Amino acid sequence: MANLDSVLTETRVFPPSKDFVAQANVSGPEGYQALCDEAERDFEGFWARLAREHIQWAKPFTRTLDESNAPFYKWFDDGELNVSANCLDVHVDNGRGDKVAIIFESDDGKTTQVTYRDLLARVCRFANGLKALGYKTGDRSIIYMPMSVEAVVAMQACARLGITHSVVFGGFSAKSLQERIVDVGATLVITADAQQRGGKTIPLKPAVEEAFGLGGCEAIRNVVVYKRADVAGNWEEGRDVWMHDVEAGQSDTCEPVIVNAEHPLFILYTSGSTGKPKGVQHSSAGFLLWAHLTVKWTFDLKPDDVYWCTADVGWITGHSYIAYGPLAAGATQVVFEGVPTFPNAGRFWDMIQKHKVSIFYTAPTAIRSLVKAAEGSPEHHPQKYDLSSLRVIGSVGEPINPEAWMWYYKNVGGERCPIVDTWWQTETGGHMITPLPGVTPLKPGSCTTPLPGIMAAIVDETGGDVELGKGGFLVIKRPWPAMIRNIWGDPERFKKSYYPEELGGTYYLAGDSANRDTDGYFWIMGRVDDVLNVSGHRLGTMEVESALVSHPLVAEAAVVGRPDDLTGEAIVAFVVLKKARPDDAEAAEIAKDLRAWVAREIGPIAKPKDIRFGDNLPKTRSGKIMRRLLRVVAKGEEVTQDVSTLENPAILDQLGKAL
Ligand code: WT7
Repeated sequence: MANLDSVLTETRVFPPSKDFVAQANVSGPEGYQALCDEAERDFEGFWARLAREHIQWAKPFTRTLDESNAPFYKWFDDGELNVSANCLDVHVDNGRGDKVAIIFESDDGKTTQVTYRDLLARVCRFANGLKALGYKTGDRSIIYMPMSVEAVVAMQACARLGITHSVVFGGFSAKSLQERIVDVGATLVITADAQQRGGKTIPLKPAVEEAFGLGGCEAIRNVVVYKRADVAGNWEEGRDVWMHDVEAGQSDTCEPVIVNAEHPLFILYTSGSTGKPKGVQHSSAGFLLWAHLTVKWTFDLKPDDVYWCTADVGWITGHSYIAYGPLAAGATQVVFEGVPTFPNAGRFWDMIQKHKVSIFYTAPTAIRSLVKAAEGSPEHHPQKYDLSSLRVIGSVGEPINPEAWMWYYKNVGGERCPIVDTWWQTETGGHMITPLPGVTPLKPGSCTTPLPGIMAAIVDETGGDVELGKGGFLVIKRPWPAMIRNIWGDPERFKKSYYPEELGGTYYLAGDSANRDTDGYFWIMGRVDDVLNVSGHRLGTMEVESALVSHPLVAEAAVVGRPDDLTGEAIVAFVVLKKARPDDAEAAEIAKDLRAWVAREIGPIAKPKDIRFGDNLPKTRSGKIMRRLLRVVAKGEEVTQDVSTLENPAILDQLGKAL
């Protein structure tokens, strides 16, 4: 969470260079203002124009926005298209088939190039193979794969057939995978035998077996397996089939299935304030439009750029800014299998130099860890590499602290590249508040101003506008094409989470608190709900708590976030055991055990950094856990708040003691 005092006293401003402005897709304050004015003047006309210019429609739409069943908004909903045809065929059909679509670099440094023509052929062969297995429009698939060309092929092939995919991050546990298989009602799983990361081969298919073992996955007819490492494992004839066998003998052409604009392209699970992750449902046309357009606007993409987004396809960033947006925009992009620190801390810089990357998009947590690594091994400092190909660099996932921003700006961007600090969410489908590199004077730590057509504002608890300089809830006042359409199978939760009555029921509530300075710049302060942001990954406190209490030794648990220099926030868990409070030696053992347990239940990213044991938790007389106090205790600070409503104030001392 950003520190309010430090960010609001930030006075440095970095305007774009004249040269950059002169060549930018959106150029200068006039270019930006013209688009904003157009959206203000004729909101629907603005979006309709962009949708006509950026999407190849099989059947043109005549209705732009349908608000009749708000907040279940529909966009372009009598139009028809195919998303994969808009990402691949458009380029091949227009003489760009030989352009490189993907430069894949494996963990061990091997490079493969795939042209748009090759990628289309691969997607078609795989789609034909899936069709031969009986999969069709309306089916749902789970994709549980490492970073690979094959993961992009799998997503695009599903899009080509109108199969709604749900990608599960390869770092999630078998249990998380099983919950998603069940919730989404999948009939197909596409996975890999293993993943290759940081020089290690990590089996993946066994997690699928384990997920099936947990029950409820009987609807799955096939497990398609991409062979990455040739790791033998359990193989069920008839159900399991290699990806290359699915593709074998199939034609290089596959007629794209035309779907309605609102057809669910994908469902992606993300954490909310209750224990159960939400299946965020995205549309086809609206999502595609915004993914395409923001690549052009925010990254200023040009035909000769080499673009690299370091995210994983398991997150929304990998959907919008790897699998769909850059392809729709016809970019050449790097797809990377490995990790930033293998074989050494210079991996990213080496790859930028080698592939002449010109647009680079990564997360503050990666930047912070590389700052540390560069201090520790000066030979891998970014200044040791030729990064002169870079022209735009970006940040996503959490607030970037001004120090990390300055380091990134100087050492990676050479004080020449604008940093686009992009605020958005799984639910928004694409960038919402971000600098435009040829427009916006930058302030370190601020995501600056909303994109044209995005009506962002800060309101109080009744939905009233707050004055500049006063903090409040970040909302979006009007719908936008790439917005979440529903929570899969739970429309009530959708309404309650994002369109609460308290704010009037018509504003989209982001769940972040924010502040606006006197220049109108937005400063994101962090989540206002029970959601944590650990290394840019969203986790619900309740989700971690329910994992902890499912351990046989645990009676009760409360989880809070604590600011962390490296991961942004760190998870601190307060645990009451069913037996007496353990002594230090035993506590260390149990804590280790609980960490491993949480990793098995959710995934390693959810492991608490710090676990404290108490005889009880701080509760009010009505039994409510006082998390506010736990957050103070977790930071190691003294509790100065009023504790008179606490039933058991003495417990705070006990919980204040770190292991
Ligand atoms: C939450 C959304 C955006 C795709 C990856 C994360 C935080 C995201 C920023 C930013 C400050 C940011 C917010 C948001 N966040 N980007 N540039 N500055 N905070 O997507 O997992 O859905 O998480 O990440 O708190 O609500 P997500």
